[in-house]
Parts: sequence; structure tokens; C-alpha cells
Amino acid sequence: MSPQAVNEIQELKKQTGTLLLAHFYADEQVQEVADFVGDSYQLALFAKQSPANQILMAGVVFMAESIKILNPQKKVLVPDSEAGCSLVTESPFKDYLKWRLDHPEALMVTYINSSAQVKAISDVIVTSSNASKIISSIPKDRKILFGPDKNLGGYLSRTLNRPMDLWQGSCQVHIEFSEKELFNLIAKNPSAIVIAHPECDQGVLNLAHVIGSTSRLLEEVKTNPAQVFIVATEPGIFYQMKKLRPDAKLIQAPNQSACCGCAICPYMKLNTVQKIKNTLLNAHNLEGVKVSFKLAQEAQKSLERMVAVTQGQGVSWPQSFKTPSWVSDF
Ligand code: 13P
Ligand code: SF4
Repeated sequence: MSPQAVNEIQELKKQTGTLLLAHFYADEQVQEVADFVGDSYQLALFAKQSPANQILMAGVVFMAESIKILNPQKKVLVPDSEAGCSLVTESPFKDYLKWRLDHPEALMVTYINSSAQVKAISDVIVTSSNASKIISSIPKDRKILFGPDKNLGGYLSRTLNRPMDLWQGSCQVHIEFSEKELFNLIAKNPSAIVIAHPECDQGVLNLAHVIGSTSRLLEEVKTNPAQVFIVATEPGIFYQMKKLRPDAKLIQAPNQSACCGCAICPYMKLNTVQKIKNTLLNAHNLEGVKVSFKLAQEAQKSLERMVAVTQGQGVSWPQSFKTPSWVSDF
């Protein structure tokens, strides 16, 4: 990107008082112009702690919604409102509510990759960086419903030795990594460290040396002196990995996707520098992300519980689920 284009975005951010956030999977040009790049928990926390009244979230819509719910007074914009997530699509509110109503005594632990409605009927939200800590803080005698990602849920259940009922959703990008081809690639690169996001299938996770959130995988590349890494996550993260370890060889884990075999998240790639520029130019005319008041109040409780437990504070857990009045609106 030309220095002029970068300067233009920086100037527009200043003029409009906008904080530009980007996820590690965004295009490298988008990451380059962002004020902060992070994993889903870091982005939510950064937005909450920032004094900015206007935030432009270059990631996917559930990230922008979470920021809006945690900061109802702030205007939250997105470069493209079509930036969804297969986990959101695979956890429709009515079905998730039925699951919830079938187990009123259980605690519902929901991955942040979910809709605002689903968050509002959940007891606590987790991301892949804090899920272990949060689930470990739940009393052992409480039954847990975990959704919508079956792979993250299965991984947590195995590593924490904690039975959980799992929703059967998955990430359309991470489930495409191929266990068989990864096995062959490891045989050709025996000294490589395999790092994987927990949204990958169990077979792929079984071959990984390190499993973690995007920030955890970056930390591994930064601190592990190995010279070769096989990376089973979305390739947008290579931009930060190369900056941290220009000396290391980074190999994308093989992918069985019928379309391109590239492991690219199509939603994250909807964020472009041109759309960021257009959003900043029109910011005054844009309403921003909307979450209805009653729903936001409930979803805020589950997101705030996530922040509190992650920061080491104690929280109280509801004894049973009570159907909120706004449910009939959906
Ligand atoms: P992280 O929270 O690890 O950044 O993951 C977000 C995500 O969407 C992974 O596909
Ligand atoms: Fe959703 Fe997967 Fe894209 Fe992450 S990589 S935003 S889980 S579709």
C-alpha cells in the first residue's frame, strides 16, 4: 500500500475520532493501518478500555456486536456488514433456545463466535484464549452446555476432563485442515513445531505440539527457538508471525478444501482498505451496529462474566435459566 493511502486513512481516523481495530485474520494491508490488532478477547477488552467514542471493527460482525454490547454508549462501525461466521450461521437462535430450555438447570457456556441473541440466553461467553480458565471456575457439580463450536468444546472437555453437552457447529475454515496430509507433511519436516487453533478437527489437534488462540499461536512463534513451524489456522496471521520471526520458516498446514485449499476465511477478507476508507468518509451518516436494548442487557451480563473471570474476579452463577420477556419478539 502506498504511503499516501496509509496517510489518508490515518488522517480520516484522526478527523473522525475513530479507533480502528483489526483481527489477526484480516488482510495484511488492513492490519497495517489498524490502531490495534488482536485476538477476539483482546479486541473486546481493548475497545472496552479505550476512551474512543467511535470504533471501526475490521473483523467479523460478532466481534463488532460484542464491542457494542460491552460499550452501549459507543458507535461501532464495520467495513462490511456481510462479514459473518459459519459458527453464527450454525447456531440459529430458535434451536439454541430450545436446547437452553431443555436444560434449565445447566450453565450455558457460549463461544464468542455467536449471535447477540444466543449470547443473551447464555450464562457466560468464552474465547479460545480464556475458555479453559472460565470452565475451570465453574463448580464441578454444574452441568455445562457448550456451543456452538464442537471442536473447541471437545478439546476443552478432553483437556479439562470435564464432560459437557456440545452443540454441533464448526468453523468452515478450520475443519478443512487435513489430518492425513498434515501427517505426511510432518514426516517431511520432522523438526517442525505444529501449532493449531482449537477449531480444527480432533485428528489435526492430535498431531499438534501447541493448541491455542491466535494470540497463543503468535506467542509460540515468538518465543520458541525452532526454525520451522507448521501453522493450522487462517493465513492472515502470517503477517504478524513473519514480523516476529523473519528468520523462521512458516508452512501453512495442508487443507482439503474443494475450492482452493487456501484456508482463507471469506468473511475476514471482506474487510478491505477501500471499505475502511469509505466507512470513515461516511461515518457521520452511518448508524453503526445495533443491538436491541433488552437483548443487549442480557448479553452484556454474559460478556461481563467472561471479562471478570478472565481478570481473576469471582462471579456468581445463576441456579437456573428463566426465559427472558424479549424472547417472544424473535
Ligand atoms: P481467536 O479468538 O483465537 O482470535 O479466534 C477467532 C476466530 O474466529 C478463529 O477462527
Ligand atoms: Fe468464523 Fe472460522 Fe472465519 Fe473464524 S475463521 S470468523 S470461526 S468462519
